[in-house]
Amino acid sequence: MTTPVLTESEQQKLRSVATQAMKNAYAPYSQFHVGAALLTASGDIVAGCNIENASYGLSMCAERNAIANAIISNEKDTIDIRAIAVVNSKNVPCSPCGACRQVIWEFGQNAQVIFLGSQGWQILTIKELLPVGFSL
Ligand code: THU
Repeated sequence: MTTPVLTESEQQKLRSVATQAMKNAYAPYSQFHVGAALLTASGDIVAGCNIENASYGLSMCAERNAIANAIISNEKDTIDIRAIAVVNSKNVPCSPCGACRQVIWEFGQNAQVIFLGSQGWQILTIKELLPVGFSL
């Protein structure tokens, strides 16, 4: 099944919700504030921001926090991510890290990922970003 392309207004909405969430980022160590917003197949939009820790490895990315947030507030068995947008305070190219790709893949194998690439805003599917995800 091919995933329907997001409309321009859906993309803008996700980027704007992500930008709002980015303002709540807790990133005193990197100063790199990140926001994410995902759209589920049921039409919900849920946001997340990065939350760092003095024990650096405990820091959590905006994308995975958005997914956790969506799962916590979800009333169905699971969530199906249709799209996820990621923005950052430095306005530099930033696609989801490998760990986030794997977690996005788990919850939306047809998800479209909206991120700032080297040539501007870009949309790739999670399968393009992670062609062979891990599953059990
Ligand atoms: N970060 C995210 O939240 N998402 C990304 O896609 C890339 C990196 C965060 C992790 C860390 O808090 C900071 O950005 C610097 O790596």
